[in-house]
Amino acid sequence: MSVPTIHRGSPVRHLGALLGTGCLLLAVSGCGGVKRGEDANPIAGKQEFVAKCGACHTLARASTKGTVGPNLDEAFRASLAEGLQRSAVRTVVEGQVENPNRFGAMPSGLAGGAKLASIAAYVAEAVDRPGKDSGLLASAVQAPGAGKPVVEKGGRLEIAADPTGQLSYITKQASATAGAVVVSMPNMSGVSHNIAIQSGTSGPILGASSFTTKGTVSVTVKLKPGAYTFFCQAPGHRAAGMEGTLTVKP
Ligand code: HEC
Repeated sequence: MSVPTIHRGSPVRHLGALLGTGCLLLAVSGCGGVKRGEDANPIAGKQEFVAKCGACHTLARASTKGTVGPNLDEAFRASLAEGLQRSAVRTVVEGQVENPNRFGAMPSGLAGGAKLASIAAYVAEAVDRPGKDSGLLASAVQAPGAGKPVVEKGGRLEIAADPTGQLSYITKQASATAGAVVVSMPNMSGVSHNIAIQSGTSGPILGASSFTTKGTVSVTVKLKPGAYTFFCQAPGHRAAGMEGTLTVKP
């Protein structure tokens, strides 16, 4: 009988695989920036996730529909089915945010400390779970586009982008009287958006503002009575629901 060999390095390698290779490197410079598990507040985590991550990632429970990065429900589905613990998902999420691929599209420094711990705690509980969030989590983030319809006044129409970072304007309904209208879009979200006005739902685009991540942009359009669509031209945003109807009366 052979004596089992103890691979002294293996638990570390195992942990390293869990944390993502970047984190192993950072162990030297202090990868423990996040208080793992402590101070985690899933409600704040959901709000932060929607604000900082949802524009790029789909996560069904958070109602986010970003398509720049992987769909997070799908990303963890196979591993969860194979028995990956949700606590390990949390560690992977923290590792990814601390050390995104340097050559990838995910920015670094999106969150740290208690905020990141909260985001990771929420994501770990939410990924690949059917149904909807309940209790306080359900009301943590306002439903996208649920605001009151907006009305043009004196040739000006303001349609704000969702300030929480959801791929939506605050409302899905706007109305105006015919003539020249300055459509302005305040955007406090930090996510890049613009606003374009289209005839009908698939007709010609009458005008489009420039893009902004924070600030207000506007476009002037001449409108005849009829139905128009306002929407965001950032890739994937309209498909995610960032559009609404503009009704123009004589
Ligand atoms: C600007 C777009 C963008 C933002 C914002 C963003 N990500 Fe990502 N994310 C990506 C891309 C692209 C990838 C694919 C891998 C890479 O490039 O590093 C990724 C990968 C990931 C992965 C790994 C998924 C897998 O398949 O292994 C996780 C987890 C993740 N992101 C979580 C987050 C969290 C949490 C936030 C918010 C704090 C966030 N991301 C914000 C674009 C983004």
